[in-house]
Amino acid sequence: MSPTINIDQLFASSLETLRSHVPERLLSPKVGIVCGSGLSTLADSMRDIHSVPYSLLDGFGSSTVLGHKSVLAFGLMGPGDGVPVVAMLGRFHPYEGHPLSTVVYPIRFLAKLGIKNLIITNAAGALNPSIPVGTIVVIQDHIALPNLTGPLNPLLGPPISALTPRFLPLSDAYSRSLRRLVFLASHKLSLPDSALTEGTYAWVSGPSYETPAEGRFLRAAGADVVGMSTVPEVLAGREAGLEVCVLSLATNAVVIPDTYRSIKAEVAAELAGKPIEYPPEAVVSHEEVLTVGRQKAELMRSLVDTVVGLI
Ligand code: 6GU
Repeated sequence: MSPTINIDQLFASSLETLRSHVPERLLSPKVGIVCGSGLSTLADSMRDIHSVPYSLLDGFGSSTVLGHKSVLAFGLMGPGDGVPVVAMLGRFHPYEGHPLSTVVYPIRFLAKLGIKNLIITNAAGALNPSIPVGTIVVIQDHIALPNLTGPLNPLLGPPISALTPRFLPLSDAYSRSLRRLVFLASHKLSLPDSALTEGTYAWVSGPSYETPAEGRFLRAAGADVVGMSTVPEVLAGREAGLEVCVLSLATNAVVIPDTYRSIKAEVAAELAGKPIEYPPEAVVSHEEVLTVGRQKAELMRSLVDTVVGLI
């Protein structure tokens, strides 16, 4: 069986399940939204919600990460009659053991349903010291060189359809027009200038966080934030011709000390009676990531809601 037939069968089966849970008028969403860790309250902006658990949908994996809900929610968002949207509350990550085909399947499915725009949120570590924790970073580019992430690219393998570009260009991966709408939405909401900035996202596989040397490496390579998600979905979204926008919430600082913490120097200084006092080492935790996610969920929610209203 060719992979093309296989994915079409999955689409047909997932669609049939949706039809028994979601009214027809909500089944042609214009915008797809992916909610990152602790950011599933984005669904609070939706009216007329009809949800389907991933477990009922063929092709969807089951998300195992704390802070993710694992449902596909259909509904309306934005002013007036509202725009039909579909939100993924929880996503699939390579570090859970999901193959990349599973990670991107929902995006391909949402593209099949007819979404034209994809808004992806995530929690990320700030590599750029001028990005304080709590800032929303409007992603304008990414770094996901195969040798940083292993041979991880969801577009590896046979093309999923005859129309799929073999060599997808990525110089315009992050929609200029949607990024514009994000900053217009920020103005409309009177957010302080410091609430939003722009930056480049470095994708790593996780589940381990970066070593200090890896943090320095990624920063030197030009990345502003680092995270374990999103890029596969961006690639699948672009492959399907969607306008893509990514909002990364900086949930923690990836501290990159200017001083190399040399034990050799420390012992020498100690023996010379002049001990060195290094500041305590910062250790990132998933709890910290979730806590900041929850603190900023309302900001992210109002921003996405306003952007959807402007589309
Ligand atoms: Cl510090 N690193 C990675 N890889 N992902 C993160 C993160 C850090 N903080 C939130 N997500």
